[in-house]
Amino acid sequence: MQEDIYLIGRGQTKFGEHWDKSLKDLIDEAITATIDSSPCNSFDIDMIIVANMLGENTNGQANLGSLASSLLPHRPPSLRVEAACASGSVAMHTACSLLESKKAENVLVVGVEKMTDASNNELATALMSAADSEKDAPSGLTFPGIFGIIAKRYMHEYGLTREDLSQVSVVHHRNACKNPFAQFKKEITPENVSASPEVSDPLRLLDCSPITDGAAACILSTKYKSDLKIAASQISTDTLSIADRPTITSFAATRKAMGKALEEAQIERSDISAIELHDCFSIVAIINLEDIGFAKAGTGIGLYKKNDPNVSINKSGGLKACGHPVAATGVKQILDVSKELKSSQKRWGIAHNFGGAAATCGIHILEHIVNE
Ligand code: COA
Repeated sequence: MQEDIYLIGRGQTKFGEHWDKSLKDLIDEAITATIDSSPCNSFDIDMIIVANMLGENTNGQANLGSLASSLLPHRPPSLRVEAACASGSVAMHTACSLLESKKAENVLVVGVEKMTDASNNELATALMSAADSEKDAPSGLTFPGIFGIIAKRYMHEYGLTREDLSQVSVVHHRNACKNPFAQFKKEITPENVSASPEVSDPLRLLDCSPITDGAAACILSTKYKSDLKIAASQISTDTLSIADRPTITSFAATRKAMGKALEEAQIERSDISAIELHDCFSIVAIINLEDIGFAKAGTGIGLYKKNDPNVSINKSGGLKACGHPVAATGVKQILDVSKELKSSQKRWGIAHNFGGAAATCGIHILEHIVNE
């Protein structure tokens, strides 16, 4: 990074169904908790970046920059970014860029989504706007459909079994039981996953991230210090349609972002001990572990089977069990990596977040300054 950027405030709502709260209420709750947790007061915030994907479609609300700014007494300049489920990490990247360019010293980032107000059909259509509207959507695909095709192809290429795949959600549900903010705090068995209703062959209900309401926020600062630093912030992109890719069992955007992030942080992959990765569907967790270089192609499931004590994967419960309010996820992952580094007293962690079928990928590397 061109500047020392510190994570000085963190806060979120519980993830789940919030029937009694509006989009604005969720933002307010997350940013109030964040400012309260930081050395700042509201007036110190120079700029707000809001991550949101579905506001117009599911809440009848656009102009979320102004909405968030209205919640602070001095109405700081504010903008909204959208990159589907990668909106949160793109918002983080935007904040880092503003801090590096010295246009701001304290930037508040908030990711928010209120999904449960819409019907399943409305949501499937709205989410599908993250894919190619000329190539993918007209063929009747939904995101569970796209990732079902990817899972089928992966199983064909590498021999992954249905029973193997079920391990992923079992681990994520187990982890979520310890997370007070998680949507599902319920242990499940591999048999539960394999027997849950089919959503898109071979994916079952318990392979899927859920529909979630929630907000997560943080403050990044070059003015105030803390024991947590952003060591790298990288985004990369790939073709919007999976039809335009040479393979669908590995995601080029993740590989590119990871390579650039390691270079920026000047660390080795083996230095990393906490990972929060984008498991919108169980198969994706396996592919992501391979693309970030923690397993060879076709072997990512091994990390779910062996439970390596040196590296934690989705301690929060991930998207599967903690929940996936789409644009809030990339910000929430930053909070979870920071919590994991602090509680384990380890130094390096990564947040991996993508949008569409990995059409946009954001990777952040966090450094926990253990001895300062
Ligand atoms: N994991 C675990 N439990 C889930 C769940 C999930 N993903 N989704 C729903 N449930 C539970 C509900 O809590 C409910 O339990 P209850 O009966 O005890 O209250 C039950 O399953 C039925 O819920 P319902 O809302 O009727 O499910 P649904 O069939 O309408 O929706 C999915 C299930 C998987 C289709 C929906 O969650 C979905 O579309 N997920 C993917 C979202 C997505 O594409 N996000 C973007 C990723 S790129």
